[in-house]
Amino acid sequence: MINKNQIIKEYKIKIKKFKKLNSAYFDKDKPLVSDQEFDEIKKELIQLEKKYSFLKSSIKIENIIGSKPSSKFEKVKHSKPMLSLSNAFKKEDMQDFKKKINNFLNKNSEIQFSSEPKIDGISASLRYENGKLIYGLSRGDGFFGENITENLATIKDIPKNLNNSPKTIEVRGEVYIGKKDFEKLKDKFANPRNAAGGSLRQKNSKETAKIPLKFFAYGIGEIVPQIFKTQTDLLKQLKNWGFPINPYCKIIENIKDVEKNHSFLESLRSTLDYDVDGIVYKVNNFNFQERLGSTSNSPRWAIAYKFSSVKASSTIRKILIQVGRTGAITPVAKIDPVTVGGVVVSNATLHNEDEIIRKDIRVGDTITIQRAGDVIPQVLSVNKSKREKNSKQFIFPDKCLCGNPTKKEISMSTKKTDAVRRCTRGYECDFTAKEKLKHIVSKDAFDIEGLGKKVIDNFWELKLVRTPADIFKLNYKKIEKLEGWGKLSIKNLQNAVNKSKNIVLNRFIYSIGIRHIGQENAKILANFFKNSNKFSELFLPQKRKSILKNLDDLDGIGNTQIKSIEDFFSNNKNLNITQSLMSMLNIKNFKSISRTGKLSNKNIMFTGGFEKMSRSEAKALAEENGAKILGSVSKKLNYLVIGNSKPTKKKIEKAKELNVNIITEESWYNLLNR
Ligand code: IVH
Repeated sequence: MINKNQIIKEYKIKIKKFKKLNSAYFDKDKPLVSDQEFDEIKKELIQLEKKYSFLKSSIKIENIIGSKPSSKFEKVKHSKPMLSLSNAFKKEDMQDFKKKINNFLNKNSEIQFSSEPKIDGISASLRYENGKLIYGLSRGDGFFGENITENLATIKDIPKNLNNSPKTIEVRGEVYIGKKDFEKLKDKFANPRNAAGGSLRQKNSKETAKIPLKFFAYGIGEIVPQIFKTQTDLLKQLKNWGFPINPYCKIIENIKDVEKNHSFLESLRSTLDYDVDGIVYKVNNFNFQERLGSTSNSPRWAIAYKFSSVKASSTIRKILIQVGRTGAITPVAKIDPVTVGGVVVSNATLHNEDEIIRKDIRVGDTITIQRAGDVIPQVLSVNKSKREKNSKQFIFPDKCLCGNPTKKEISMSTKKTDAVRRCTRGYECDFTAKEKLKHIVSKDAFDIEGLGKKVIDNFWELKLVRTPADIFKLNYKKIEKLEGWGKLSIKNLQNAVNKSKNIVLNRFIYSIGIRHIGQENAKILANFFKNSNKFSELFLPQKRKSILKNLDDLDGIGNTQIKSIEDFFSNNKNLNITQSLMSMLNIKNFKSISRTGKLSNKNIMFTGGFEKMSRSEAKALAEENGAKILGSVSKKLNYLVIGNSKPTKKKIEKAKELNVNIITEESWYNLLNR
């Protein structure tokens, strides 16, 4: 029998030693041991991690090798953000993607798509000015990248000069390591993607040069002047300039061909010398791409259709309950560890109570699980023939882990009972509160580097944090004594926490975790309140009432959101928590969404279907030109634009009553001088 604790103890000692050597080697450039010795220790640790899966959840050697980019490389703002892609997993998701594009563009015909293998590597952006490579950036957080020019310049696939190029062009693509080349690096990294990432992060570009990194170009960031009309034109020209373009890029004329294309590339997958985890579909026409624009995280004109998920069989040992930040109770199956698509899985989601009942999932059952992309594996089906005779039906608890009753809510919009049970005690429930803290520190909220989910778990256990304000008055002296923390990491954490105190109003609103207020709605609210003083008026019951009435005017904020804001602020605990958090912060005013266009300071509302464009595009255009879109007819409305197809009579009548300008689709285009 292996002694787990002993192994963990020895592993931690070795990791500690390795950290010292690593820092001497990478950060200080003063190795304490020979390269060979360094590699030996590294190899030993990797093998330990591979052999004992319980070590994986702790530190992980890959995360230590090299040094963190943030401290090493200069941060540079991307002139155009490097967004991520939304995912499709099945045929219907792709049909939906196409339908949304058709709706947005108000176009019924087929859309031409550029189909490109999605290389599983590390993305990079290369800026050329007057044909010369000026710098190269990693993706970073999508808005700021790390300046890794020297390392990128070691990649032979990347041209240093472009003939007859536009004055400015940023070429974007994927850095990867071939599967064959990876064989030689297998001892050092878990997979080719990590190997590419690690190599690009070397402090010394001579180290990077030793690794056979390759590159596929697939897109552009800033370009002046724009010379391309389609993605096809772009890929052709990139190839002429000497960039490798993936040979399986092709045009898909009809959405019906997507499935065939998918299975074709999937069948080739194992024969390719690089990892491909799906296909990226992009609207080929750049004019359409521009019209479609993007949401806060991803473009509307592209999607990653992931390869079919991998399945495996295992046995359920336990069914546990987890509580999310909104109090949602999710059942999770603890299963016998099984490898699915190269990853060891020991948890699978069971979604909700109804799903357990529908599939009659029980402890002890033999089940098939499915893992798609990065999402948590799910239980697909139960093999009932293997079920033991004495197995018992799983009774879903009606209480939260905190001991209090849970509720199924009735949706305000659909009037249906929610499938999800919730604990409604918010911060009064320890389990919900901990998840709320994880949300607060997350990337789209306060974005505190070094304070991730695991650290919150740890700090929570040690009672170092209970409420959001605690994050800003951490006891660093106590933390310094904890395992895994040193002077440098404490300093970094302190800096990151202090930096995050300067937060823009929309992020703050998103952070406090009001249900139904996601990033987009938080922006709409921040644009309404403008500053934190005004926002604080929500704390006062009388003022809150009148504010909430006005919110109804905002496009995107409906009854569900208003009720949720009311619920949040009428709870005293939430009020106190929000107030003490605010007292620790410097909340910056929200810079109004550009109001400098032809329609600046005009309030507009659309009703009915249009001929030349969809309502969504009309709204986007109005906002681009400085207008504010209202959600209901009021005296504040300057124009009610009515489309030919089924405009709402009530809205027109009310607008007439209030003397609002009512205009047709054509006059709307005239307003824009189009
Ligand atoms: S387009 C705004 N095309 O997939 C869209 N991405 O989240 C930008 N990737 O980080 C991405 N192959 O690194 C695009 N042919 C391809 C790609 C590709 C791989 C990666 C990219 C990005 C991720 C998507």
